[in-house]
Amino acid sequence: MNEHMKFPFGDFQRNGPWPGHLLTAFLLCFQLQLTPAELTITPIPSRPVEGENITLFVQGFIGEDLMSFNWFRGSTTDLAQQILTFVSMSGTQSMGKAYTGRERAEADGSLHISSSHLNDSGIYTIRQIFFPTDSGSNMVSTNVYLPVYDGPDPPVLRPEGSDFVVGSNLTLSCFASSNPAAHYIWWVNGTAGPSGQQLFIPNISGGKSEVYACHATNPDSGLHSTAEIAVSISETLTQPGVLVNNSGPVENKDSVNLTCVPPKSLVAIVWFNDGEILLSGRQGLGLSPDNRILTLEVVTRNDSDLYQCEARNPDVASTRAPITLKVIYGPDIPIVTPPNSTFVEGYALTISCFSTPILLLSTRGRLMGHLSHQL
Ligand SMILES: *[C@@H]1O[C@H](CO)[C@@H](O)[C@H](O)[C@H]1NC(C)=O
Ligand SMILES: *[C@@H]1O[C@H](CO)[C@@H](O)[C@H](O)[C@H]1NC(C)=O
Ligand SMILES: *[C@@H]1O[C@H](CO)[C@@H](O)[C@H](O)[C@H]1NC(C)=O
Ligand SMILES: *[C@@H]1O[C@H](CO)[C@@H](O)[C@H](O)[C@H]1NC(C)=O
Ligand SMILES: *[C@@H]1O[C@H](CO)[C@@H](O)[C@H](O)[C@H]1NC(C)=O
Ligand SMILES: *[C@@H]1O[C@H](CO)[C@@H](O)[C@H](O)[C@H]1NC(C)=O
Ligand SMILES: *[C@@H]1O[C@H](CO)[C@@H](O)[C@H](O)[C@H]1NC(C)=O
Ligand SMILES: *[C@@H]1O[C@H](CO)[C@@H](O)[C@H](O)[C@H]1NC(C)=O
Ligand SMILES: *[C@@H]1O[C@H](CO)[C@@H](O)[C@H](O)[C@H]1NC(C)=O
Repeated sequence: MNEHMKFPFGDFQRNGPWPGHLLTAFLLCFQLQLTPAELTITPIPSRPVEGENITLFVQGFIGEDLMSFNWFRGSTTDLAQQILTFVSMSGTQSMGKAYTGRERAEADGSLHISSSHLNDSGIYTIRQIFFPTDSGSNMVSTNVYLPVYDGPDPPVLRPEGSDFVVGSNLTLSCFASSNPAAHYIWWVNGTAGPSGQQLFIPNISGGKSEVYACHATNPDSGLHSTAEIAVSISETLTQPGVLVNNSGPVENKDSVNLTCVPPKSLVAIVWFNDGEILLSGRQGLGLSPDNRILTLEVVTRNDSDLYQCEARNPDVASTRAPITLKVIYGPDIPIVTPPNSTFVEGYALTISCFSTPILLLSTRGRLMGHLSHQL
């Protein structure tokens, strides 16, 4: 009997035995409360936090003619989801397929779950099985949703790097493990800002340093956790690095990848050849979707050139990083022009040969004149 069960005329213990008719009335009333009403399950505590022991207490549990009862995970009495079976006569429990080693039942129907996990959240079903009677169904079941709250854990902010460049879009994302999912609010330099998991600030202006804080709250437990990041915004972009995967490509044979390594992850890349911007779509030329890799497919001698890559955003550009490609070629089949087999002294004879593109040979003096070498 608890202290709420007091009668207006005083306390049972202190005032001694009750008049007979009053006691009868009380017992009748008590009996009525016990009549098999609804079978209901109440989690204790009602808002369990991960790690706590939980009891699923059953109200309206009928002990009479009870053969056994089962607990299930989920809303169905599926054998695969059975946690345990409790046999009333022997008072013993046997484990089911969904038993994790942390569950224990009691004769009053309650289920204890020790050291609750987040994934213990879910629906639980109890089924009572009675000895067969003449009147219909001998099973009663009901279920309840058990929430297990957790967190929020300290938020994780991305990107971790804190150096951004003027004119870039600043995108920060925040994640804090929480059940149910956390609500997020951003604080910029100590002032409450937008809500949501992502913070997006386009075209950030330079020369300042700001502190962004992500404040995560568990909407049910009201617990919260905060992480912050100091962001400095530089006004210049340093020169990217540039790499070639084959320093001596052979004409008509090799493909070459030129890779631009930008100083920061948030910037765009532009390639130049001969001072002109290279665009994808040009014959024999490939650009990766992020523009970082320039592929020269099956190089020719004409691909020998100066290539440059530049990091830029709408407001700033870096100095260009140069790389010179030298394609190895030749020897070519010597071509004699004009293609006469006999030559008249005094005429020019041109032979292109080897890796020197043009050889000028003067026929003066019986083909033994001077040789001029042009590149
Ligand atoms: C939780 O349950 C386990 C096993 O029943 C028990 O050993 C432990 O003491 C309980 N913890 C608390 C805080 O009640
Ligand atoms: C529930 O979480 C615990 C601890 O994180 C883990 O050991 C267990 O395997 C999980 N169970 C399921 C069914 O995912
Ligand atoms: C920055 O965001 C704007 C939209 O606000 C978008 O149009 C632009 O492409 C973004 N710039 C970069 C470099 O992502
Ligand atoms: C970015 O902001 C600067 C001023 O801070 C402005 O001059 C520039 O035009 C803006 N760029 C874009 C792409 O909106
Ligand atoms: C944020 O705070 C820093 C340091 O106090 C200050 O330098 C910066 O100007 C502030 N930024 C804004 C936008 O108020
Ligand atoms: C360089 O990259 C090209 C293009 O992907 C590839 O075909 C070639 O095999 C690579 N060369 C070397 C030496 O890795
Ligand atoms: C060359 O670059 C392309 C992307 O443009 C990439 O798919 C390929 O794997 C690269 N080749 C080598 C050898 O790195
Ligand atoms: C190189 O370029 C010249 C002139 O543009 C052209 O005549 C020649 O065919 C090219 N050579 C190759 C191997 O593509
Ligand atoms: C080459 O031969 C043609 C006829 O076969 C002749 O007309 C021409 O004059 C010759 N040229 C030279 C440079 O000998």
